[in-house]
Amino acid sequence: MAAAAISHLRRGAQRHARALLFLSTRSFSSASGVAPLAAARRLLSTSVDSGASSKGENYKPPLFDPFRAANLASSAPPLESPPIEELHDDAIPPEVEDSGPPAAPEKDPVACQHELDGLKAWVEAVRSREESTQEKEAWSLLGRSVVSYCGTAVGTVAANDPSAASQMLNYDQVFIRDFVPSAIAFLLKGEGDIVKNFLLHTLQLQSWEKTVDCYSPGQGLMPASFKVRSIPLDGNSEAFEEVLDPDFGESAIGRVAPVDSGLWWIILLRAYGKITGDYALQERVDVQTGIRLILNLCLSDGFDMFPTLLVTDGSCMIDRRMGIHGHPLEIQSLFYSALRCAREMVSINEGSNNLIRAINNRLSALSFHIREYYWVDMKKINEIYRYKTEEYSHDAINKFNIYPEQIPSWLADWIPEKGGYLIGNLQPAHMDFRFFSLGNLWAIISSLATQKQAEGILNLIEAKWDDIVANMPLKICYPALEYEEWRIITGSDPKNTPWSYHNGGSWPTLLWQFTLACIKMGRRDLAQRAVEVAEKRLSDDKWPEYYDTRTGRFIGKQSRLYQTWTIAGYLSSKMILDCPELASILICEEDLELLEGCACNLNKSARTKCSRRAAKSQLTEAPEVIRANAVQLLHPAMFRSKQSWSVEYSGGEQRSPGGRRKKTLKYGNALKLKD
Ligand code: GLC
Repeated sequence: MAAAAISHLRRGAQRHARALLFLSTRSFSSASGVAPLAAARRLLSTSVDSGASSKGENYKPPLFDPFRAANLASSAPPLESPPIEELHDDAIPPEVEDSGPPAAPEKDPVACQHELDGLKAWVEAVRSREESTQEKEAWSLLGRSVVSYCGTAVGTVAANDPSAASQMLNYDQVFIRDFVPSAIAFLLKGEGDIVKNFLLHTLQLQSWEKTVDCYSPGQGLMPASFKVRSIPLDGNSEAFEEVLDPDFGESAIGRVAPVDSGLWWIILLRAYGKITGDYALQERVDVQTGIRLILNLCLSDGFDMFPTLLVTDGSCMIDRRMGIHGHPLEIQSLFYSALRCAREMVSINEGSNNLIRAINNRLSALSFHIREYYWVDMKKINEIYRYKTEEYSHDAINKFNIYPEQIPSWLADWIPEKGGYLIGNLQPAHMDFRFFSLGNLWAIISSLATQKQAEGILNLIEAKWDDIVANMPLKICYPALEYEEWRIITGSDPKNTPWSYHNGGSWPTLLWQFTLACIKMGRRDLAQRAVEVAEKRLSDDKWPEYYDTRTGRFIGKQSRLYQTWTIAGYLSSKMILDCPELASILICEEDLELLEGCACNLNKSARTKCSRRAAKSQLTEAPEVIRANAVQLLHPAMFRSKQSWSVEYSGGEQRSPGGRRKKTLKYGNALKLKD
């Protein structure tokens, strides 16, 4: 009887929330129109009240939660899809009509189906692979790290280290960024449910009200992590209910918002759709709203002069002060990747045209900015070395007023003849010349870097193997901050001493991202070499979080053991190495359409060049080659036979109904794909 009443109440609450969603999607037209959407989603969410949370007084639970108001017993929150309703991109400022592509490239259903069939065959290949003893151990550990909420798997804990049980800090939580390699490992093994649950539960957390000293960050913010807590039901010491308790940075060290969480969420959502074929998930109205809230936060107007995202120090994997405030590469690469993924997933309707246009404009401006200003190699450093300063004009060469004296002494000897990399950060009058692995790797994976730059980055890693890989792949950044720099920049952080943790420590979780980048660039050999290095130690060392010293010889001083993203990263790397076509769920190829057409009105003859046109001129490959690379749809059987696939460019031009030009690519085996 009571159960029936409870279930009725819950259904009532859902109806209430859905009605609100309907209302909100229909009738709010201002930038603040996203608030009711979020409010509606909050009603579909579970909550924990501030008293129950260890996070205490700064945490503000949803204003009204009908589930808790009704003293409900534990059970999974509703995650079924609300009815599909058209979304309006209210918060995206209307833009002038431009000649740029109005929408994401059309998906060809035949090509999509072919891609899905190919991926499914690869997943089967993964499942039937012979696993090494180390992989078996890793799978068993990964299984043990799974966190359940109301009986369903929703994520994996950051670390499961019995030796540090008394000092878990927040390592017993599910971190959004840490879960990504776990999710990839599960997806590659054909286990999509945990990933779907994770995506939907974190989506519900997105719209919680969060405050730090009475100030609330934007609504699209995704938590850094969450924990499942059991709290006693009111007035009953024996019955408990489970609640999800998120941390948006309001209890994290330094109180920094995790800017990367939402970006990772979008990247994972696309990967999930690609490999499972469950596109219905990304089409759901609440999921579309989630994507839009994240994008609204990233694309909203501010004081910025650059297309790069302006963030505070520690807003990503490096979540402590390390001098990466401003426009750090890691955030820019993930931002670019998330925009590329979102562009494929945003439902196309009249209401989303402005959003898609905003995404396109940002993508092309961002790629130009990074390719042009972040790239350094021998030639560029020599140019900077001879820079004139104090140039005041539109056509200044040294646009950011970089004083050549800031070229660090280590760089002159370090930069190889062949290759180069994207610097860590660019600010007015400041270039951070440190090499950051994650940002460089994702610039390759997402095609933020040009083909030539991507090759250059891998060439540099190869040439500097002893600095970046040595005894454990890979250094989070190179070189470490030492002496006075360490004291001032890290704030004398004892965890970030030189060649430790974020300050030049070696993080095995970077291995899966390195593998992806290598596979994309046809450098499987490099990835294989790195995996072999890691394999020599990871299991014996009990899967540490990070390694210390200049060459990564010691297990990190404060490193957790049995760190989940070390384990999952290793597994994902092994599977991608053996079944490289699976890398396509995370990779984005160069998109030439992005470089066509622009709203900036700068014509070819102007002294100040349009960045889109300039970006196009940065390409060194013929467009046909790039397009050919973009459509590698190989079947496991084809890969095994090591057949070489000649790509024939038909040169044919067609016009789509919308008037956009289409060219047809023809594969030698009669596989036909449209670009
Ligand atoms: C450390 C890392 C961070 C990671 C967390 C959980 O704080 O810096 O990137 O998400 O541990 O593993």
